[in-house]
Amino acid sequence: MCGIVGYVGNKNAQDFLISGLKRLEYRGYDSAGIVTLDKDGNATLLRAKGKIINLEEKLAKNKREDKIGIGHTRWATHGEPSETNAHPHQAGDIYLVHNGIIENYKELKATLTEHEFKSETDTEVLAALVESFYQGGAHPLINAVVQALKLVKGTYGIAVVSTKAPDEIVVARAGSPLVIGVGHDETLIASDASALVGHTKQAIYLNDGEVALIHKDSIEIKTLNAEPVSAKVEMIETNLAAIQKGGYEHFLLKEIMEQPESLKETLRGRVNLETGTVRLGGPGLSEEKLRKIKHLVIVGCGTAYHAGLLAGYYIEQFTPEITIETVIASEYRYRSAYIPKDSVALIVSQSGETADTLACLREIKKQGVPTIGIVNAIGSTIAREVDGGTYVHVGPEISVASTKAFTSQMIAMVMFGLTIAQAKGVKPGVLYPYIKEIANLPEMIRKTLEQVHDDVKRVAEAHKKYEHAIYLGRDTAYPAAMEGALKLKEISYVDANAYAFGELKHGPLALIDDRFLEFALVPKGPLFDKAISNVQEVLARGGHVIVVTNTDFDLPVEDVIRIPGEIEHFAPMLMNLVSQLFAYYMTVAKGYNVDQPRNLAKSVTVE
Ligand code: M6R
Repeated sequence: MCGIVGYVGNKNAQDFLISGLKRLEYRGYDSAGIVTLDKDGNATLLRAKGKIINLEEKLAKNKREDKIGIGHTRWATHGEPSETNAHPHQAGDIYLVHNGIIENYKELKATLTEHEFKSETDTEVLAALVESFYQGGAHPLINAVVQALKLVKGTYGIAVVSTKAPDEIVVARAGSPLVIGVGHDETLIASDASALVGHTKQAIYLNDGEVALIHKDSIEIKTLNAEPVSAKVEMIETNLAAIQKGGYEHFLLKEIMEQPESLKETLRGRVNLETGTVRLGGPGLSEEKLRKIKHLVIVGCGTAYHAGLLAGYYIEQFTPEITIETVIASEYRYRSAYIPKDSVALIVSQSGETADTLACLREIKKQGVPTIGIVNAIGSTIAREVDGGTYVHVGPEISVASTKAFTSQMIAMVMFGLTIAQAKGVKPGVLYPYIKEIANLPEMIRKTLEQVHDDVKRVAEAHKKYEHAIYLGRDTAYPAAMEGALKLKEISYVDANAYAFGELKHGPLALIDDRFLEFALVPKGPLFDKAISNVQEVLARGGHVIVVTNTDFDLPVEDVIRIPGEIEHFAPMLMNLVSQLFAYYMTVAKGYNVDQPRNLAKSVTVE
């Protein structure tokens, strides 16, 4: 969603702001803007609708040597995407950029009669509110910002500069991330640490309710109630290679192909084949607490939700007396759900910033239920607010469509399930087959990707005319089918939905005709014959079926994509690699934007 960058130092601010905004492009946006100040406070405001290249065209005619500035990529919430609605917004001497939503902006706007509003945004209201307290520089900028924020209801990450104080930036956060990069004679800000990579390795993550006064050589942080905060400087672990395409045409393909390595990182030090055990330090639950767990609530959105669904199928296979409920965060946060005693909640999020997932975390904590994060982004809000957690360590995921995170989230949750089962005394003979497969998965993922790649590309290109698709699976292949359908839908704009094979006769079978393509995940196992009968039923009605399997069968389907047969339990996870590649090549064949699909953002920080 929206992105924020800022710079104060001795270098060219415009250069950093533009390169920083480009790093944040992956989050999704529809307009962008920057403002810089010269040493006398003269401002150069540049804004453009659409891609950053449009902003760069304006910049080429307005190059400045200014050493301070702030910038923003906007993802429209209040008012259409347009230059006027793009940030930074100005009110008098104030320029302000904002992520989040000011819920009471209408009430506030009604009081700000002296300001002539130009945009439809809630952000301009905030700029005018700050200006009303600033009164042309009669008060320190930070005091004006604090007074304004005390009146605000909603979420924000903001950066503010004033033409009257052209050597300082004020930033604040409540519900929307802000990172301060500590450099030598320069301070940088960003809503996402990836914009800082290559500039500094040291960062301060602002907490909700904190405000900071930033100069090139100093950072003072306090709470809105004026209590001083001693900042903790943390290391940014990401390197430049991790946020570049590394020779691939798209981030999505890079991230799909990276999965053997990214999963290895998830497993590192956590799986011991010699002892046949799994060890997760992060959750921080004692053996006794693990033994007592009777109920798991798994919370996530989109792909994270699917990872939770699939993990739940596995965990209940090997853990006695456990009930698992996997829920969509945007629904769960408003339900009156009763969480029984001896429950633990798994909070699943790649970005660690998803607004609905975060809201659920806070609700669940209020009920006194221990929360465990399954998170990728280090230092993210969810990672910091959970009681314990397991980072999946897949590195930055830039493409909007989530791929490597899914694989690692799912396996991390299964590993958590295994630690519960171990504590409950489940026989090693029951758990070992799962643990052995998990240890082999990175190699099996590599083998699968290599084996299926060309076939999937060919099949996707051959089916590019389809606008409707049905993904089908049973048991563990069903959540995998759901994830496959989401991938195809979000990047190739094919109307793709998933059904459990057994549900076909209860409605979806009526859809089968020449407009629809069916993508069937059929692993060998106890339900293989039943799934094959379902495929037959689809074929009998003229279906265009592509089967993904790890075994042989004899049916006149349109295409078969075969994955290696060595993996039994986690075969649906390998099948999901096929779905990921299929969505990728379908999108390329249709000529759409692979990494930044329309209307979507990487990190959904508003409800
Ligand atoms: O960052 P999160 O894992 O919390 O994000 C959750 C969803 O927004 C995300 O998985 C989304 O569904 C992806 N675009 C799917 O590819």
